[in-house]
Amino acid sequence: MPFRSSLLASSLALALLSLTACGHPPSNPAAAAPAVEQSSAAQAASAAYDFDMDVFHPVVAENGMVASEQELASRIGLEILKSGGNAVDAAVAMGFALAVALPNAGNIGGGGFMLLHDARSGKDVALDFREVAPSQASRGMYLDAQGKLIDGKSLYTHYAVGVPGTVAGMEHALRKWGSLPLSRVIAPAIALADKGYPVSETLAKTLQQEKQSMGRWPATQAIFWKNGEPLKRGDLLVQKDLAQSMRLISEQGAKAFYEGAIAQKIAAEMAPYKGAITLADLKSYKVIERQPVRGSYRGYEVATMPPPSSGGAHLIQILNMMERWPMNQWGVNSAQSVHYMAESMKLAYADRAEYLGDPDFVQVPLKGLVSKPYADQLAAGIDGNKARAAQSIKPGKPQAYESDQTTHYSVVDKAGNAVAVTYTLNTNFGTGIVAKGTGIVLNNEMDDFSAKPGVANAYGLVGGEANAVAAGKRPLSSMTPTLVLKDGKPVLVTGSPGGARIITTVLQTVSNVIDFGMNPAEAAATPRFHHQWTPDELRLEKGFSQDTINLLKARGHHVAVKPAMGRTQTIEIRDGKLYGASDPRNPDGQTLGY
Ligand code: GLY
Repeated sequence: MPFRSSLLASSLALALLSLTACGHPPSNPAAAAPAVEQSSAAQAASAAYDFDMDVFHPVVAENGMVASEQELASRIGLEILKSGGNAVDAAVAMGFALAVALPNAGNIGGGGFMLLHDARSGKDVALDFREVAPSQASRGMYLDAQGKLIDGKSLYTHYAVGVPGTVAGMEHALRKWGSLPLSRVIAPAIALADKGYPVSETLAKTLQQEKQSMGRWPATQAIFWKNGEPLKRGDLLVQKDLAQSMRLISEQGAKAFYEGAIAQKIAAEMAPYKGAITLADLKSYKVIERQPVRGSYRGYEVATMPPPSSGGAHLIQILNMMERWPMNQWGVNSAQSVHYMAESMKLAYADRAEYLGDPDFVQVPLKGLVSKPYADQLAAGIDGNKARAAQSIKPGKPQAYESDQTTHYSVVDKAGNAVAVTYTLNTNFGTGIVAKGTGIVLNNEMDDFSAKPGVANAYGLVGGEANAVAAGKRPLSSMTPTLVLKDGKPVLVTGSPGGARIITTVLQTVSNVIDFGMNPAEAAATPRFHHQWTPDELRLEKGFSQDTINLLKARGHHVAVKPAMGRTQTIEIRDGKLYGASDPRNPDGQTLGY
């Protein structure tokens, strides 16, 4: 099996040729020449790397590596590793740093998931610090008296906020698997918030896009606006209140956020809105340690996020279907490969809408979904020559809208600990509401529930009963932090933002490495595709050849070329070395090693 072999040359060359043949350069010039920082040890390690064979090159290192969507956060993670911290120390430091440096998705006012491999015990853990619906939440809370969805209520109001889990999750991870005190790992984030940093082009664009939702709130404007306008590229973003909130967390731990001064301020922000988060809701927030959902693919083990994420279940479900097909003979992004994978994606996403929700509230048939016999059954129904109409698979319960403004980061240390974190505010800057006096941007994760099961929501889409709103329930997610292991040790650490497209992005990353022998930089640079059952659309990034598109159309696919999908942060561990890459789709991302 490839996982780096000469097969790569032909398959990747095909993908790249199709880019140039169409006259399209890679979506970001950084893809061709990623700016990386390497220590001399890392440069020595590069010498063993096959530069002649590979088209895109990962960062190479020996001792430790971090990959995130923001260089400032990656530098902080690297510094923690270099100064003797382990992967969990670095991951927690980066979690807080991204709340400062990537304020549209990094957060302490949101929630997420951490997949970690503890080298000492050999165990893998799935840490669930997803937001929770407040105690007064109810299934009709986003509907008017006529039972119609109230436009924007689940997105841009105080009722859209789920009880945040990030601070509890970070503290829990550090206490159980870290080696440094919270005050040490949070210090760089505090310093960054206090001192400020120049706004990047990417962040400036995001602020401009969110002008309307953020501009409604004076406390938000006070931080992110200058002279009546969102900050522009090069403006200094200083976050004094956030620094002070983090200082309280540094001194008092997560208690400051859930019971102390920060909790009081969040509760005061919510108080005028009856039914929104209360002090008691904050106090009762709990992190949950879950067993990762596990599968296997061509001799590798996959450990990934179980419900309340749908990501892990469907990643494994699709891999189980793919395992029977000679993907490496078919080639990366050939019409044949794309057809079979898209048909598998449709089947998995149809199941997602039907079965997935918070396992503490609904029975998710997880074992069945990830079983090989179930994949046999599903794959048997796939026609190699003809795309099945989405309607014929299972009509009536398409999945809910999901934003793609999440973020993922990966860390590996020299002891072999590996951490994959995907966390989020949901949409960019969540609700856009900053709890006054805290500097903390509040999530709108409640929108990940089906606001009205069985009926089209504000986006014209319909959600499943299993994901209906209920007090204390966690909304369904697609976040898929993932470890691929061989003989119990991680060989690949990956994940991505991308809403519903996270699952297929992670799927293609795993397949690109295992089936096509790509390194993480090549796996990220390869054009992606996505099918989520409904709408019945095979979504492609630019870069597929017209021949391929014609062949897919001839098989009945409804092809649409749309904006780029996913922004992976991937680290491969091979022969004692680390190979990492930040997705070229985000120019601010940075992988660093030493
Ligand atoms: N809010 C995006 C997700 O959880 O999948």
